[in-house]
Amino acid sequence: MAVQISPSILSADFSRLADEATRVEGVADWLHVDVMDNHFVPNLTLGLPIVESLLKTTSLPIDCHLMIESPDRWAPSYAEAGAGSVTIHAEAAKAPVRTLRAIRSAGARSGFALNPATPVDYYEDLLPEIDMLLVMTVEPGFGGQKFLDVVLPKLSRARALIEKYGGEVWLQVDGGVSAETIERCAEAGADVFVAGSAVYGAEDAAKAVRDLRALAAA
Ligand code: DX5
Ligand code: ZN
Repeated sequence: MAVQISPSILSADFSRLADEATRVEGVADWLHVDVMDNHFVPNLTLGLPIVESLLKTTSLPIDCHLMIESPDRWAPSYAEAGAGSVTIHAEAAKAPVRTLRAIRSAGARSGFALNPATPVDYYEDLLPEIDMLLVMTVEPGFGGQKFLDVVLPKLSRARALIEKYGGEVWLQVDGGVSAETIERCAEAGADVFVAGSAVYGAEDAAKAVRDLRALAAA
């Protein structure tokens, strides 16, 4: 699968989200939107109304990462609103199969995320329900954290499980992805790369996306 880059607007200027999205249009594959509810993670960001507004202003498909306590309640609404991909967390979902199916039925790609300490092997049988597996390489909640190398073996195991299953499941990595770490993620088998501070902290966000893509594809 070709490399895909999904810049996270968590590190963007929240008062100018439409302009910030424009900075990566034409070079990024997705716009990663981190929804946090201050319960599942100790931070509060944005919700459905802002995602709906962003959908109207950006040409990029939206990759919604739901770091919320009740993904079963909310995920289908993000898909119905028009998000291209909706990711729920293994640690929060009480009915993951039902919710992953509801995301797909509403026309979005179904994503399933694992925190650094959550084992991937346990979820092997769910792969047919998942369009994108997200392996977190920081504890979720904040941008700009240090990449956790300790998760790299799990990323490789996730890739091996996907190959064994044989279906088309994208493998996303999120947290501390930068020019320093992206090659190791690609080597471990990731193909969709979220980058917040590495893109929005750069003077030229579009160039940062191009540089990350080149490193991941090398
Ligand atoms: C963290 C979020 C990430 C965050 C990544 O909980 O899920 O998407 O924006 O930011 P960086 O790339 O700065 O680690
Ligand atoms: Zn994220």
